[in-house]
Amino acid sequence: MTNLLKKANDYMFENMKNRGEKYTNNYHYNSPIGWINDPNGFSMFNNEYHLFYQFYPYGCHWGPMHWGHAKTTDFISWETLPIALAPNNDATGNCGIFSGSGIEHEGKHYLMYTDHYHPIIDGHFIDGKDIRQTQAIAYSVDGIHYEKISNNPVISSELVPQHAKVQDIRDPKIWKKGEYFYCVLGSINIAEGGQVLLYRSKSIESGWEYFNTLIYEGKKLGICHECPDLFNLDGHDLLIMSPQYLKPEGYKYWNVHSAVYMVGQLNYETGEYTHQPYDQIDHGFDFYAPQTLLDSKGRRIMIAWLNMWERESHTVDDKWVGAMTLPRELKIINNKLIQLPVEEIKNYRQNEISYENVSFGHELRLDGIKGNSIELEMNIKVWGDFCIDVLASENNNERFRIMYHDFKKLFTVDRSQSGKVTRSFGERTSQEYRNVELELIEQELKLRIFVDKSSVEIFVNDGEYVLASNCYPINEDYNVVFTGASECKIVSLKKWDIKVK
Ligand code: FRU
Repeated sequence: MTNLLKKANDYMFENMKNRGEKYTNNYHYNSPIGWINDPNGFSMFNNEYHLFYQFYPYGCHWGPMHWGHAKTTDFISWETLPIALAPNNDATGNCGIFSGSGIEHEGKHYLMYTDHYHPIIDGHFIDGKDIRQTQAIAYSVDGIHYEKISNNPVISSELVPQHAKVQDIRDPKIWKKGEYFYCVLGSINIAEGGQVLLYRSKSIESGWEYFNTLIYEGKKLGICHECPDLFNLDGHDLLIMSPQYLKPEGYKYWNVHSAVYMVGQLNYETGEYTHQPYDQIDHGFDFYAPQTLLDSKGRRIMIAWLNMWERESHTVDDKWVGAMTLPRELKIINNKLIQLPVEEIKNYRQNEISYENVSFGHELRLDGIKGNSIELEMNIKVWGDFCIDVLASENNNERFRIMYHDFKKLFTVDRSQSGKVTRSFGERTSQEYRNVELELIEQELKLRIFVDKSSVEIFVNDGEYVLASNCYPINEDYNVVFTGASECKIVSLKKWDIKVK
């Protein structure tokens, strides 16, 4: 183990005992200590699921990136493991292990990641144009200790095509098909605009070659396509990625950066990717850099960073920032992405309370329906506008509001009065609302709402839309309050406590 890796592990294991718990999520994977961003290396090894993540253990801000590590057998209960990778911080200027992916091959667990180089001379970073990002490999035989291979980089700056910037080429997602390994990389075109590059090789550790550019739409689709992932789902080749600074269109892309998917087909002979228009993956405030794996049951499971760049965070006093979404099972139905929380969450349901056929007008509260570590499942018959407040104070002045505006056909989350105000340093759009246009069928709305201590994740109409957001309540009442402009009806409602520990 290098000195820097040992230092980071000693620090993490010593300090994670002292992490504050006020807002620490119960059943979402939560930073053990310090800062986390993107999920990395989400993959299966020896019948367990491994999750790595961008990690700076020493502070509640982004810093020289390590790969933190956790594993699970059911996507809900996680065990935090020793940090897997640390930057070299040597004379070459290697100051970050950026995002990447994982794959099991011939008994080894391989990680493919980006080495970020930004040399320091006399205590100062040199000019940004001298930054380099190259792709590298590490492997493990036990799923705990990871060794960087001596042949790194496996994709050096010399292997970058002329139309791509050598300063911004990162986040390899690797997969195998036939006799080749493939990887997609996020990149910036020298003429500006994001692009996704495809590489291939017959061996993981050497022989990588540029194959084709999958996506390039000039400035239209953001400045860099971070964290691409390409996989086959229900007969389609889906590309997901996280374009930086995508401009808002109608109610979409209101966060400073977005995560989008496209349904298409990759021609493995020519490397050409034909696809339908892109669309937003999640419609809440906090969702970025999703990554997927194929599990042992053949399910495509996606996890994402439950946060957004350039946001104020209220967990700094607790010595952590950042969590992951619930892992979601993906499907394509009528060319549209459908997302559902993994089935396994049902194993953690406790203390079921249910109601049927309850009409509501002004501020209905129901016995037993409250909490900050719960799942709510409901069918609502909609007659006019209504809202459901969660994490609400006794007088309901503080609440995270979930609304349906029947006339405008808009489903909205409103965190304007949800407790500590989350400012954004990057967004020009509202910090209070996120909206989805939603037509109801027979005036029925189906919701599954996952309230965790500082997050609310909402699955609408069997996964047609999902909205993930952070929320920092000050109150400790955690009520659920139903209010309808006219006579809306709860056709059915179930509430469970979700207990993991
Ligand atoms: C996305 C990202 C990646 C990069 C990593 C650095 O959130 O910017 O492109 O590898 O974070 O932490």
